Amino acid sequence: MSELDAQNTAGAGPERVPPHTPLPQYYDTDPKRSRYVIDLFDRTAQHYDTIEMLFLNGGIWYRRFSLRRAGLRRGMKVLDVAMGTAAVARGASQIVGPEGRVIGVDPSRGMIRAARKNFQGPVSQGFAEHLPIAGDRFDFVTMGIALRHVSDLLATFQEYLRVLKPGGTLWILEGHVPTSRLGHQLTRFMWAKVIPGMTLVSTRSRDAKVLMDFYWDTVEKCVPPQTIVQSISDAGFEQARYKVVLPGAFCEYTARKPLPD
Ligand SMILES: C[S@@+](CC[C@H](N)C(=O)[O-])C[C@H]1O[C@@H](n2cnc3c(N)ncnc32)[C@H](O)[C@@H]1O
Repeated sequence: MSELDAQNTAGAGPERVPPHTPLPQYYDTDPKRSRYVIDLFDRTAQHYDTIEMLFLNGGIWYRRFSLRRAGLRRGMKVLDVAMGTAAVARGASQIVGPEGRVIGVDPSRGMIRAARKNFQGPVSQGFAEHLPIAGDRFDFVTMGIALRHVSDLLATFQEYLRVLKPGGTLWILEGHVPTSRLGHQLTRFMWAKVIPGMTLVSTRSRDAKVLMDFYWDTVEKCVPPQTIVQSISDAGFEQARYKVVLPGAFCEYTARKPLPD
């Protein structure tokens, strides 16, 4: 079984919690979803930082600010899952300093290659649902804007619990859709029209525009924050909570691995 096939069957049991409903306009059957996602990131990796620049790198600044607020400190060990071009990992590295350590994981070879200009630390190719990492190792597990791409929330959070040290922190940043009708419509206009258009103009890449179309479609179809928090708790974390950071843009999830009795 290939790594991708193994990832597709992760958590195939009765408790599987997919992060969003299938999107047949992109891939025909759910087992093809993961391959579609990785191919899309491979093809668009070179444009990812240009897209971040459309937001004046405010998201990069926010990731670092939020990590510090969540308790990340000098000397800590961080596993950044779905590292992409290191938007989270580079902020984490600045905070933990030379005494600490940040390790990246991502399934896309294209993204790992593109990350190299922003991040010099160790990187492994792998999926959130099957981390290629030994247990009880990290003070923080982080995941920026990628939770919608896993095949199963519960399997993913169980993996995060496994690799964290007791007392360690889970930090996740994800997209947000307001619940009010007007808020939803405004958010859809921005993310489904304005941002894909700006992406096409700035990158001249149809694939990069599709990436942003896919971003919005997966965010819009994502399970609500309450379901994500419930899955985090079901996986065995304590103090699982979410906070809407910027309505229509970011929602943040944090939780703690319990200490032994
Ligand atoms: C939108 S990028 C996020 C990059 C970065 N973390 C950030 O905060 O901007 C999403 C990343 O998730 C990765 N990804 C997709 N499926 C994944 C999975 N099942 N497990 C881990 N990472 C995955 C992609 O390869 C891509 O690099």
